[in-house]
Amino acid sequence: MSLLKTKNFISAHDVTDINALVAKALDYKASPFKDKTLGAGKRIGCLFLNPSMRTRLSTQIAAQNLGMEPIIFNVGSEGWKLEFEEEAIMSGSTSEHVKEAAPIMGQYFDILAIRTFPSLANKEDDYSELYVNQFIKYSGIPVLSLETATLHPLQSLTDVITIKETFKEKRKPKVVLTWAPHVKPLPQCVANSFSQWMNAWGEVDFVVTHPEDYELDPAFTGNATILHDQNAALKDADYVYVKNWSTYTDYAKIYNNDPSWMLTLDKLAATNNAKVMHCLPVRRNVELSDEVLDSPHSIVTREAGNRVWAAQAVLSELIDQLNPVHH
Ligand code: CP
Repeated sequence: MSLLKTKNFISAHDVTDINALVAKALDYKASPFKDKTLGAGKRIGCLFLNPSMRTRLSTQIAAQNLGMEPIIFNVGSEGWKLEFEEEAIMSGSTSEHVKEAAPIMGQYFDILAIRTFPSLANKEDDYSELYVNQFIKYSGIPVLSLETATLHPLQSLTDVITIKETFKEKRKPKVVLTWAPHVKPLPQCVANSFSQWMNAWGEVDFVVTHPEDYELDPAFTGNATILHDQNAALKDADYVYVKNWSTYTDYAKIYNNDPSWMLTLDKLAATNNAKVMHCLPVRRNVELSDEVLDSPHSIVTREAGNRVWAAQAVLSELIDQLNPVHH
C-alpha cells in the first residue's frame, strides 16, 4: 500500500502512515542500495529558485541510490525569471510564464522537485503557495517539495526520523521548538512544518516557545502548548529544536530580537540532558552558541545526514506510483 495519499509530497497531510515512512527511511539508512534499480530509466528534475546545500545534495544522492537520474536546475540563478501570476502582463522583470515552463518540464522529467522561498512581502500570496501550486497545476507530473513558502516537509520527516532513532525510552519524548534570534527576517516554513509533523505524528509532548508577537499560524501549531517563558518551556525537555522565524501576524517583521533567547549550556541544565536540533544552516553565536553546537547535546550533523534517507523513502514511494507493475 502506498504511504502517500496523493501523487505529490508537499506536507505531512500527504502521508498515510508517518511511522511506516520513517521505518522505510531507516531501512534505507541500513541498506542504501537495496532498491538500486527501482528508478532505472526515470529522471527527476530538481528546480532551485533559492539557494540550498543539504536539500540539493541529499535529494541528488537519494535519487542516485534508487538508480534514478537527477538533473539539477538552479532556476533562480541560471534560468529565465519565471512569472507565476495568471493573466500577468509580462512587461516587467519576468521572462517566462510557468504555463510554458511547467508542461515542458513535465515532458523532460518523471518527477519534478521544487524549492521556492516566500517573498516575505505579502502574507496572502506566500500562504497561498502560488509557486508550487502552479507547478502542480501545469506540469502534469508528481511534484516533490524541496521547501516551499510555508512548509519544508523533507526536513520535517528527517526530524521525525532523527527523534525516532535517538529516543530509546518507553514514553513520549518532550519536544520543544524554540524561537532564536537572527539578523534578518526569515520564513516561518521550518517552524510551521516541524509543528505540523509533530502534531501529525502525535508521539511527542510538543511545546512551542517564542517571544510575544512571534505566534505562528495556528493551522500548524494546533494543540501544542505555547509558552513565552523559554526557561519554563525547556524544563525536562528531551529535544530542543532551535529555529528563528519572523513575525506571522504582522507579517515578516523582526519585533524583538532579544539575544537572551539564544540557547546556551546554562539553559540546557533544566532539560532532561536534551538533544539539540536545527535544520541548518545556523548562525553561530546568534541563533545557537558555540558551546552548545560543539557539545554532545548537538545532533545537528546527524540530523542533516538523515536528509538522504528521508528523501530516499519519499522518492521510492513516488517512483512506486509511476511503476504500478512493481507491486
Ligand atoms: N535544511 C536545509 O534545507 O538546508 P539547505 O537550505 O542547505 O538545503
